[in-house]
Amino acid sequence: MRYHQFFVISVIAAATFPDFVTPLAPSWDDLRIKHTWDAVPANWETLGSPPSGTTIDLHVALKSHNESALIEALYDVSDPRSPKYGAHPSKEQVARLVAPHADTLELINSWLAHHGIPTSSISTSHGGGWLTLAGMPVSQANKLLGASYQLYRHTRTSDTTILRTVGYALPAVLHTHVQTVVPTTHFASTHTMRQTPRRRSVGETADMALREPVTVLSHRDDVVVPSNLRWLYRTITYVPTATDQNLLGIAGYLDDYPSPQDVRMFMSQCRADAVDATFTVELLNGSEYDPDHPASEANQNMQYAQAMAYPTPHLFYSTGGVLTSLPGSNLPAPGDPFAAWLDFVLSGQSVPPTISSSYGIQEKHTPPEYATALCNLFAQLGLRGASVIFPSGNNGVGNLEDCISDDDPESVHFVPMFPASCMCGVPYVTSVGGTTGNPEVAASFSGGGFSNYFPRPEYQQVAVPTYLEQLGSQYDGMYNPAGRGIPDIAAQARRIYIVHNNMGYLVSGTSCAAPVVASIISLLNDYLLSVGRTPLGFLNPWLYGVGLPGINDVISGSNPGCDTDGFSAAVGWDPVTGLGTPDFLDLLASLDSHLTRTQNLTLDPTLLAKATLKSTKPFL
Ligand SMILES: *[C@@H]1O[C@H](CO)[C@@H](O)[C@H](O)[C@H]1NC(C)=O
Ligand SMILES: *[C@@H]1O[C@H](CO)[C@@H](O)[C@H](O)[C@H]1NC(C)=O
Repeated sequence: MRYHQFFVISVIAAATFPDFVTPLAPSWDDLRIKHTWDAVPANWETLGSPPSGTTIDLHVALKSHNESALIEALYDVSDPRSPKYGAHPSKEQVARLVAPHADTLELINSWLAHHGIPTSSISTSHGGGWLTLAGMPVSQANKLLGASYQLYRHTRTSDTTILRTVGYALPAVLHTHVQTVVPTTHFASTHTMRQTPRRRSVGETADMALREPVTVLSHRDDVVVPSNLRWLYRTITYVPTATDQNLLGIAGYLDDYPSPQDVRMFMSQCRADAVDATFTVELLNGSEYDPDHPASEANQNMQYAQAMAYPTPHLFYSTGGVLTSLPGSNLPAPGDPFAAWLDFVLSGQSVPPTISSSYGIQEKHTPPEYATALCNLFAQLGLRGASVIFPSGNNGVGNLEDCISDDDPESVHFVPMFPASCMCGVPYVTSVGGTTGNPEVAASFSGGGFSNYFPRPEYQQVAVPTYLEQLGSQYDGMYNPAGRGIPDIAAQARRIYIVHNNMGYLVSGTSCAAPVVASIISLLNDYLLSVGRTPLGFLNPWLYGVGLPGINDVISGSNPGCDTDGFSAAVGWDPVTGLGTPDFLDLLASLDSHLTRTQNLTLDPTLLAKATLKSTKPFL
C-alpha cells in the first residue's frame, strides 16, 4: 500500500502533471536556523544597517550528489599505493563529480523562483557545486535567509567594515541540500589573515615583524639567506628544465603584491645567476597592482620562491578589494577572499602544480560548515593536481588572550591556529611549521596542534597516535586529540633576510617557511614533468608514506603559548615541526629510486660537509 502511494507521487513529481505538485510544494516559510553565533563575535561591533539600496552577492554551496565521491577520488589519485595514483581528472570530470543532485537543483530553483530572484542573476561557481546570486538587495537577502545583515567593524582595526549577519536560516527542506551560504556568519579581519604583518616600529618584539633594517649582512652570523636553504635542503645542484610546463603559484590577498625591483635587488645580492627572475601577476576581485607599494609578505614569498626554484615560472595571484571598505564611504566590503580566489583558480582549464599561500583565517571564528565548504574546494584543487601549501601560524599553541574558552572562562583551550588558519587545519592542504638553526630545532613561535573541526585523516593514523602516546595526559582537555594534526612539514622561519622597498630586513614567521617548502615541491614537480610524469598533487598521503625517508626529523624545541610550555618536538611527527624538514635529493630518490645513482644529482660529500659547516652563515 505504501509502496503504491510512493510510486504515484513520484510519477507526478517527475513532471507528468506539474500543476498537481503545488499542494505538495515545500513550505518555504518554515525556516530553521542554519548557523548562528550566540552573540556578535569578540572584537566586532555593529555599525547598524547598511544604506538602503545596498546589494550583496550571495554564494550558495550545494551538497554534491555523492558526498564521499570527491574525497575518495582525491585519495585515489594522491596515494602512491593506488592504481590511479597521479591520474588527475580534468576540470569537467571534477565538475561532474561534485555536481549537485538533480533534485537539489530543482528544489533550489523553485525556492529562488518563489522569492522572485531573477534567473539572470544566478550563475554557477567554484568548480560547479556553488551558485552565485549576484546583486541581491540586502532587504531581499534578509528575507530569503531570515537574516539581519548589518555593517560590522573590527574594534582593533578601524578600517574594516563588513556586511554580515550573526545568524541565518534556511527552509527546513533545504538543510540536507545546502552546505553553506556566504557571506553570512563568517567574521574575519585583515588582522587575522596576514601572517607577516607590515612594518612595525623598531622595538616591538613580535618575532614575525619586520625587524631593524639590515645593512652589513655579512657581520651577522645567524641570518638565513637562500644559499643556506639551498645547501641545507640540498636543492643547489638541481637545475629545473620543465620550465615550459611547470608553474609556481603564490596566492596573496588584501591587495598585496611583490615588487619586481625588490626581487631584482634581492637576487643581485643573494642569487646573482637569477637576477633576471620575473613573475606574472594575476589581479582578481578588484585588486590593483602598484609595483611601487609592495607588501613585505608578498616580497618575502616571491623572493624565496624565486631564489629556490629559478628559472621555474612564477605567478602571483593578488586577490584584492576584500574586507576593507572604502575609507569614509561606510560601504561594505565584498565577500570572502578565499572563496573568490578558489572560484578563480578552479575556473581555469588547468591549475598550477604548486601553490603557496601565506595567509590564513582563525579556525574558531570560522563557522564549521563554511570551513567544510572551503575544505572541499581545496580538495578539488588537489584532485586536479595542485599541491597547496599553507603556514601553520606564528603563536605556538596560541596567544594567551585567545586561549580562554568562550563557554568556560576557567579553562584553557589551545587555538588551532592563531593567527593562522582554518586553512592549515584543512586535511587536503599541506601545513608548514617553522625551524631555526643548524642542526635544526623548532622555532618557538611555530604554530601547531590539532583541529577542532577536521578529524584525523587516514594518512596521520600512524604518525599522530604515536606522538599522543608519548605525550600522555599532559594537556588533556586543552586540545582535540582526535583532530587533524598540524603541521605536516617545516622549514627555516627565523631571521630570514629579505629586500623590501630597496632595503634589507630580517623577518620571521612560518609564512617564510611555506614558500620554501612550496619551491622544493615545485622542483620535484619539475623533475616529474621533465620525465613525462604527472605532478605530485595533494602531497600528504605521499609525504607520510613513500616520501618519509626524504624528511629530516626535527626532534628538539617546542612551541609555548596559552601560558603553557606548548608541545615538544619529538622523534617522528610532532605538532611543532610535523614530520620535519625536506631533503630534496632524498625526496627525489623516493620518487625514483634510480636517481640516487645518478651522478649529477648527488652532492659531492666534500661539498656536503661544507654545507653542514656553513649553512648557519650568510653566503654573501
Ligand atoms: C558514491 O561514490 C562512491 C565513491 O566513488 C561510490 O563507491 C558509491 O557507490 C557512490 N554512491 C552512490 C549512491 O552513487
Ligand atoms: C570579490 O569577491 C566577492 C566574493 O566572491 C564578490 O562578492 C565580489 O563581488 C568581488 N568583488 C570584486 C570587486 O570583484
